[in-house]
Amino acid sequence: MINAAVFASGEGTNAENLFKFFENDTRIKIKLVVTNKDTAGIIARAEKYKKNVQIISRESLENYTSQFIEFLKLEKIDLIILAGFLLKLPPQFVTAFPNRIINIHPSLLPKYGGKGMYGNKIHGAVLRNKETESGITIHLVNEEYDEGQVILQVRCEVLEEDTIETLAQKIQKLEHEHFPKVIERFL
Ligand code: GAR
Repeated sequence: MINAAVFASGEGTNAENLFKFFENDTRIKIKLVVTNKDTAGIIARAEKYKKNVQIISRESLENYTSQFIEFLKLEKIDLIILAGFLLKLPPQFVTAFPNRIINIHPSLLPKYGGKGMYGNKIHGAVLRNKETESGITIHLVNEEYDEGQVILQVRCEVLEEDTIETLAQKIQKLEHEHFPKVIERFL
């Protein structure tokens, strides 16, 4: 059995979708949820699925990195899934979990990646630049923001009449459809 931790900073719709998908799975158990925001929507979603939640501030993540990694190892976490986690993981994580950290990003990387690029900021920029397509990228995490090996990209059309909301909906639909399947294959 593979033990996974889901890291999320926001609403947690992707996280909840994973809880549901893998609820009775015999290969993977989502054992733990980590968030950096004590007001994040993810917390209620995690509690609904009876997940253990750990809240860690940016300062603690940076200043107590080894202790936190030690804690994850004690919890026997083998896989880290970033589902809208907006802090950059310190490089020690990449060393401690080599090829065992997966991220989802709401653009076709390398476009619209890097620091400060998340959620509606990305969709707004895509629309301003009159892109005709956008999509999602699921990738392994390395030391650089949004630059690890790509596992899957899925595209969608961007229409002239699209707004941030309609584009966000299209992207969310792709994320919910593909993220669990990619993790399943990755196992
Ligand atoms: C998702 O769109 C995910 O791709 C994005 O945050 C959103 C979280 O939504 N991640 C990033 O932008 C990472 N740079 P959710 O909280 O509803 O799952």
